Amino acid sequence: MTDSTFSPRLLAGKRILITGGGTGLGRGVARHLVDHGAEVHLWGRREAVLAEAAAEASAARPGAVHFHTVDVRDYDNVDETMGRIWAEHGPLTGVLNNAAANFIARTQDLSPRAYAAITSTVMNGSFHTTHAAGKRWIAEGLRGSVLSTLTTWVWTGSAYVVPSAMAKAAVHSMTMSLAVEWAKYGIRLNAVAPGPIPTDYAWEMLNPTDKSSVGATQADQIPAGRTGTVEELANLTMFLLSDACDYLTGQTIAMDGGQMLAGPGTFAGLTGLTDSDWQQIKETSMSASASSKAQRSV
Ligand code: HXC
Repeated sequence: MTDSTFSPRLLAGKRILITGGGTGLGRGVARHLVDHGAEVHLWGRREAVLAEAAAEASAARPGAVHFHTVDVRDYDNVDETMGRIWAEHGPLTGVLNNAAANFIARTQDLSPRAYAAITSTVMNGSFHTTHAAGKRWIAEGLRGSVLSTLTTWVWTGSAYVVPSAMAKAAVHSMTMSLAVEWAKYGIRLNAVAPGPIPTDYAWEMLNPTDKSSVGATQADQIPAGRTGTVEELANLTMFLLSDACDYLTGQTIAMDGGQMLAGPGTFAGLTGLTDSDWQQIKETSMSASASSKAQRSV
């Protein structure tokens, strides 16, 4: 294990499910959870991909990762697999709703099946998994933590990824709603809204042309000047799934290098100005204010 901000025992005794854990961010985060003591269960649709991800994540601790082929869009499939985890491994302590489907398209071109493929994975899938774990925690008097991977589109919406923006906003709403309803059972719900973090498949989906990358993934439009890293996302994920912040619930935390707040309606674009540009701005504005003062005193 490389140097970490956290103790290697931060998640000791935790049993955490990652949906969509065979690829992308879920796969990247899994290794960090294992390195910090957690037992991890990966869900996805493709067995070979899951097996490879599980082997990779458990390299340092063989046996710490289990995988199950599950389609989160199918409630019976989710509930049955959740029951098997409970019976064969023991109750989960946390769920990471990470499974997503998304592609860039003009909304008028989407077929009903395309809309359903995205929304049923993100919205229904997150509800199914949360419900299947939550009802067991409540019935057995166990505490639990649900974390969902969202985007800053839950606050802003986004053109050209409308079903994804709609579905993620619904999960944001579920997070706030159930945080209140289930707080009395010791169940917390939070979400993270990461900005662009390069992972092979999602990156391809979100950069579908041979032109330079599209807006949401362009590093030069991010105040921090770079995209995020899986390590940073893993650190926030581990903190939220640990016992360090039991009082934190109902929150969606953006981690995007300031991208969402640097909208075109702000002066964020001035970041590129030089010292001499700023000197000129100062001289121009001081001279404008002096002449306005002079006019008022006549
Ligand atoms: C238009 C498309 C399409 C595309 C598929 N469809 N891809 N339409 N443009 N690029 C249509 C199909 O023609 C079909 O409709 C319908 O969608 C369902 O397609 P299937 O392939 O049968 O569905 P399925 O196997 O469920 O695949 C779903 C998927 C796939 C979304 C198409 O890409 C997927 O499963 N992706 C999972 C991983 C993923 O997308 N991760 C990215 C998350 S990134 P018809 O009518 O023809 O039958 C993210 C946020 C990033 O969420 C934030 C960055 C800042």
